[in-house]
Amino acid sequence: MKKSFIVFLIVTLTFFTLSLATTYIVGTSADFPPFEYVQNGKYVGFDIDLINEIAKIEGFKIQIRDMSFDSLIPALRAGVIDIAIAGMTITDEREKIVDFSEPYWHADQDVIVKKDSKFTVTVLCGKHKVGVQTGTTGDLWVSDNLVKPGLLNPNNVKRYQSFIYSLQALLNGSVDANVLDSPVAERFAKIKPVKIVATLVTGESYGIAVKKGNAELLNKINDALKKLESSGKMTLLIDKYFGK
Ligand code: ARG
Repeated sequence: MKKSFIVFLIVTLTFFTLSLATTYIVGTSADFPPFEYVQNGKYVGFDIDLINEIAKIEGFKIQIRDMSFDSLIPALRAGVIDIAIAGMTITDEREKIVDFSEPYWHADQDVIVKKDSKFTVTVLCGKHKVGVQTGTTGDLWVSDNLVKPGLLNPNNVKRYQSFIYSLQALLNGSVDANVLDSPVAERFAKIKPVKIVATLVTGESYGIAVKKGNAELLNKINDALKKLESSGKMTLLIDKYFGK
């Protein structure tokens, strides 16, 4: 009798504590395999697992909200989301308006073209059309390094809200190339009829973003990242999404 009452008490208390756990809204742009994408109607990927592991360690709940990449920072600033995890590069400009966790990934930019095309890196110049995702570092690279020096006509940069559309435009011939993060280009080259013709060494690092000044949440995220590294869980996650 007594024992079952104690069990009852523990179960009730656990439920009570769990239901008290804060829920953070996590924004992502689920068009970026293997970091975040939709599979069988579910949000999956390295970033999604990572934020779930962080939530487990720090005892909070999460709710994923999918949006266009360029809405993530405005959504953080407006308090519509609490966390942004989207293979987001830590840049000086972004650091002025949001706070980033410690880096958890490194990437460059790649140029991809259709697998059966004869294009080389010169696809980035002249009359060719180049597709990018709006507001990404790929978009910025194209503007700074191709459009500004006059190598590419500004009208030939095609911006898409989602990488899915940018890739579709490449596959149906509306654009000749896409500029996008190297790990994602490598994944697309495995699963779609596209190939990488150049790597632009940009030396980017990905971080998880929170609203500027939200030190409490940022500390939790950084603490969990450290624990995931030291427990070996991070390596397991990397193997899951990047292993052969
Ligand atoms: N790393 C690039 C950036 O921060 C691209 C990120 C795009 N992410 C995505 N989930 N679509 O600008």
